[in-house]
Amino acid sequence: MNRYRIAAIGGDGIGPEVIEAGLEVLDALAARSGTFRLEVERFDWGSARYRREGALMPEGGLERLKSFDAIYFGAVGAPDIPDHITLWGLRLPICQGLDQYANVRPARLLPGVKSPLAGVGPEDLDWVIVRENSEGEYAGQGGRTHRGYPEEVATEVAIFTRRGVERIMRFAFSLARSRPRKHLTVVTKSNAQRHGMVLWDEVAAEVARDFPDVSWDKELVDAMTARMVRRPASIDVVVATNLHADILSDLAAALAGSLGIAPTANLDPERRFPSMFEPIHGSAFDITGKGIANPVGSFWSAAMMLDHLGEKEAARRLMGAIESALAAGVLTPDLGGKATTGDVTRAVIDALGGRNAPGGA
Ligand code: IPM
Ligand code: MG
Repeated sequence: MNRYRIAAIGGDGIGPEVIEAGLEVLDALAARSGTFRLEVERFDWGSARYRREGALMPEGGLERLKSFDAIYFGAVGAPDIPDHITLWGLRLPICQGLDQYANVRPARLLPGVKSPLAGVGPEDLDWVIVRENSEGEYAGQGGRTHRGYPEEVATEVAIFTRRGVERIMRFAFSLARSRPRKHLTVVTKSNAQRHGMVLWDEVAAEVARDFPDVSWDKELVDAMTARMVRRPASIDVVVATNLHADILSDLAAALAGSLGIAPTANLDPERRFPSMFEPIHGSAFDITGKGIANPVGSFWSAAMMLDHLGEKEAARRLMGAIESALAAGVLTPDLGGKATTGDVTRAVIDALGGRNAPGGA
């Protein structure tokens, strides 16, 4: 029996609702598969803690996380606290502090879910966006001087290092290699941004030589948005900077039916530190507490977590159960249905099937 220690951070808004739903599903899956167990510790980190104690995460929080096998994260952000405070108070310190440099965002048209793009079916939209997650536009470099005066200046410096670009490029090429189509699109803005983005292009060409079996092309980020809409089937794996991929992944999620479905893995591919798994949607205060948040993004993220932990069979089983619940029409309002978070959770648990243990059904 494999045991994994999971740190669960529900965070803000609908985060705790979808994480609890995910833990319920994981519990059922573990019980039925009989091959692994999860020991879950919950952390109440987030905006409520910030209001109470002045920090989203306690001192030494990062150190505590290091002893876990994975982190299961909901969302962070609150209407009464500036977003840059919540982001830099919890999620970014974890991603950057644990060097989770590869952010992986699959977008796939699941059964029962319709794309807003006319005539686009599941075979046309099966992408993985790889987002550089440790530097770039989110490096936090810059500053403000002469605050409040007419001559106030602010700089927001994007940082691109050869090491940072090379490792994300290698990760993206290997991921592309593992997929049937073996195709990678490298996204930049190297016409207008002539330093960091040109470095991306150069490093891509260098790394590509080590992956002769992977085909690749380049696209400028603005053209990429059009290509995603007009020629979705031409895309397989995409690699882009922190900010570009942030934007492209929202577009991808919307084209694949709903932001409520999309999952994310923040990976330390070298496995020095725990990786973090979270739905891509935010805290969604407009629907918090109503019981209608779509838990599918959280479930899919849980499947990515199992996959990363090495529980490939359990991950496949969970994905299968998610797909059959959706195909049966158990859809939350964001997908045009009337189901609640609880309805979807029960439908997925039912679809997991019976016990695997010898003598089981
Ligand atoms: C995401 C989100 C975050 C980001 C926000 C909440 C700061 O949009 O995970 O894509 O930009 O990284
Ligand atoms: Mg985003």
